[in-house]
Amino acid sequence: MKTFFQRYTPLQVAIHIYGWSALVRLIIDFVTDNLTANPIQALEQRTGRHALTLLVLSLACTPLNNLFGWRELIKRRRALGLYAFLYATLHVIIFVDLDYGLAWSLILQTIVQKPYIVVGMLSFLMLMPLAFTSFDIWKKRLGKNWKRLHQMVYLIAPLAALHYAWGKKGDFFRLQGEIIRPLIYSLIIILFLIMRIPRVRKALASVRDRIVVLFRKRGTQPKTDAA
Ligand code: HEM
Repeated sequence: MKTFFQRYTPLQVAIHIYGWSALVRLIIDFVTDNLTANPIQALEQRTGRHALTLLVLSLACTPLNNLFGWRELIKRRRALGLYAFLYATLHVIIFVDLDYGLAWSLILQTIVQKPYIVVGMLSFLMLMPLAFTSFDIWKKRLGKNWKRLHQMVYLIAPLAALHYAWGKKGDFFRLQGEIIRPLIYSLIIILFLIMRIPRVRKALASVRDRIVVLFRKRGTQPKTDAA
């Protein structure tokens, strides 16, 4: 019988630990009244940030595989994306239920008044089909369209970052207010988007190949099975 570490890789273990421990901490903090003076807002903010972080991590997999040839990252995109969806769903449930008590007319009014919520809603609506079709059966059924559909993550992540930045009181251009964190998320997303541009990808691939040659000359040989 295989041992735990023969069955699961350290990266897999780390992803699941993050995915579940963040939720357990949220529940413990809620039950023990260890949130801020506004616990519902704290829950809303923490679930939102976890959703965005996990989305950005799933976005990082392809460019990092291209750069470092770490193929396992490609296999882990699904888990990261599904955890992102879990936290985004909790975030939305907290908004409509805990925050607004399912008062739909008030929810609608808030959506109309606050464009950053419309942007968040858009990103959530687009995330839904990605989560539902992330399983192998859908990959087979949708064929080439599966990849096209899942490339929507490159639109969803910037929208979620915009939702974050827009919801904060601050000035993006003067770097004032609570904009540092949303700015960091936005810059990371922009970097990953740039790394997808074919020319940039080529340039990065040639950098990687040079590093491989350097390693070979020194007698050590890193894995180079990049896509
Ligand atoms: C129907 C969809 C959504 C609604 C109604 C919604 C609603 C909200 C609201 C009301 C806030 C402000 C909380 C506060 O500071 O008082 C917020 C913040 C936030 N949301 Fe959403 N959201 C939605 C979708 C999403 C999605 C899909 C993501 C990420 C993938 C996301 C990420 C965030 C983040 C990162 C924040 C800021 C957290 C902070 O202030 O630290 N939201 N959202």
